[in-house]
Amino acid sequence: MQRIIVLNPKGGSGKTTLATNLAAYYASHGIKTALIDYDSQGSSTDWIERRPDHYAHIQCISAFRQPEGVTRSFAMRTDPGTEVAITDTPGALELMKFSSMLNQADAILIPVLPSEIDIRAATDCVSRLLTKVKLAEPERIAVLANRSRTNTRIYQKLATALGSMSIAFITTLRDSQNYISSAEKGVGLFEMQGSGVLRDIKTWQPVIEWLCRQGCELQRGENASRPVAPPDDRQLKESV
Ligand SMILES: Nc1ncnc2c1ncn2[C@@H]1O[C@H](COP(=O)(O)OP(=O)(O)OP(=O)(O)O)[C@@H](O)[C@H]1O
Ligand SMILES: [Mg+2]
Repeated sequence: MQRIIVLNPKGGSGKTTLATNLAAYYASHGIKTALIDYDSQGSSTDWIERRPDHYAHIQCISAFRQPEGVTRSFAMRTDPGTEVAITDTPGALELMKFSSMLNQADAILIPVLPSEIDIRAATDCVSRLLTKVKLAEPERIAVLANRSRTNTRIYQKLATALGSMSIAFITTLRDSQNYISSAEKGVGLFEMQGSGVLRDIKTWQPVIEWLCRQGCELQRGENASRPVAPPDDRQLKESV
């Protein structure tokens, strides 16, 4: 099973957005997927609860809840045959408490917003992951710019800061209403209909490719509900 963790101790940076969209991506490709929610706000849990039944199943593990009548390890187990587990973490996460989980991850993704505070928080988070948590394989961490408008000065500052870190800077996700409307429905971008979403889907391609290089290149399973191919340039031109 491949383990992907989304983190950033700074609140509101896009952790749940990233975790739920990745879960939808893998599940819609027929990959047996679990979404593990460590945040007591339960945003990923709520997203799965909103998810319509006819969309690909995603196992929800609400790790922030105290299990009733079963042991914690029983409550935390993934279904047999699970191929990918994506963990959504809370803001103000104490990295040292999660040290062993972080060291076991195949991939750690850190979404960062374009603001001075977020840039500082992300720089500090990466530095603590490398020096305090002492991740054995720093090449398994990547940052991405979220909710960005690339023609702004603060985005340029963010891109420079992320680009100068000693870890991969893999993509820039637009500030787009598509994230808000898909989240409201309990689905991912990849599951939305219409050409208006193609431009955003394209920005995820580097994330999927980077995850493949971390070993999360998963075979398309038999349960695939709706094949999703990366958009070609022709489709993109039509959508913008
Ligand atoms: N690229 C984006 N474009 C537009 N809205 C976005 C984008 N990414 C996230 N959002 C919105 O920003 C808000 C915060 O995002 P999200 O909940 O994913 O952050 P978070 O890091 O999980 O927050 P928390 O630390 O509170 O758990 C949500 O309303 C989400 O829909
Ligand atoms: Mg969240």
